[in-house]
Amino acid sequence: MHEFEIRPTVDGSDTLFASAFGQHYHNPNGALAESQHVFFKPLGLIPDLLCHRPITVLEIGFGTGLNLLILTDWVKRLRSKSEIRYMSVEGFMAPTETLKTLNHACSLGLQAPWESFVDRLGTGQKDQNSWHSLGLFIPNITVDLFLGPFEALTTPPAKANVLFHDPFSPESNPEGWTLELFEQLRQWSTEDATLRTYAASTACRQTLIEAGWIVGSAKGALGKREMTLAAHSEDYLPGVKLVKKRQEDYTSST
Ligand SMILES: C[S@@+](CC[C@H](N)C(=O)[O-])C[C@H]1O[C@@H](n2cnc3c(N)ncnc32)[C@H](O)[C@@H]1O
Repeated sequence: MHEFEIRPTVDGSDTLFASAFGQHYHNPNGALAESQHVFFKPLGLIPDLLCHRPITVLEIGFGTGLNLLILTDWVKRLRSKSEIRYMSVEGFMAPTETLKTLNHACSLGLQAPWESFVDRLGTGQKDQNSWHSLGLFIPNITVDLFLGPFEALTTPPAKANVLFHDPFSPESNPEGWTLELFEQLRQWSTEDATLRTYAASTACRQTLIEAGWIVGSAKGALGKREMTLAAHSEDYLPGVKLVKKRQEDYTSST
């Protein structure tokens, strides 16, 4: 039985606590602050919005929808004309009322598009294990959701150039950190794509490398020492400290 409890975080933004995983969806020190730091601050996402470049996001773990809301807030604040396709994956969607009660949309002034989106999400019997087109969030953002487990994920409707990797921690949610998933994410993204995740463990980074990603380390959010960035080529990780493949893997694979 999945239960979802809304809890406030230190920066005033809400998060959810999922009893089935025994985890918060965000850092209890600040859901909004953590998401801004991990997913929006690194690399060229904000400059791309400023230059009105097209952006296709693939998010692993839709959760509260906070990343969609923050992206929408940036689009509005920067008056970006970027055409944005937001694709996300969720296997355990929180109830409609919970999604509407979270304070993210209200605090970002996005209550109307959010409520309309959540209503569309909740209407009708949606097939599991397939992609659903949810239409426009705001005029230049379209949303597609895969409803089902990461393990059943199928090819998304478009190749992504921005990946938000946001499952629960590898200990409680190992299906989100498999070699197969990281290989699929590489296959389903463009040559210039970049991936961001809050995780910084050696195991996570080595699995990304094994899947063909070039991996880098960046400063973590809210006092965490590190987080991880990845790309198909190091050309797209400018100024990022790269993480090497483990030596024993070199010897075993050569
Ligand atoms: C850390 S939360 C995501 C937070 C989200 N990005 C947000 O800002 O609210 C992880 C999400 O992954 C989902 N999840 C966990 N295991 C999953 C699985 N095997 N398949 C699909 N979704 C899963 C959870 O339901 C949860 O919504």
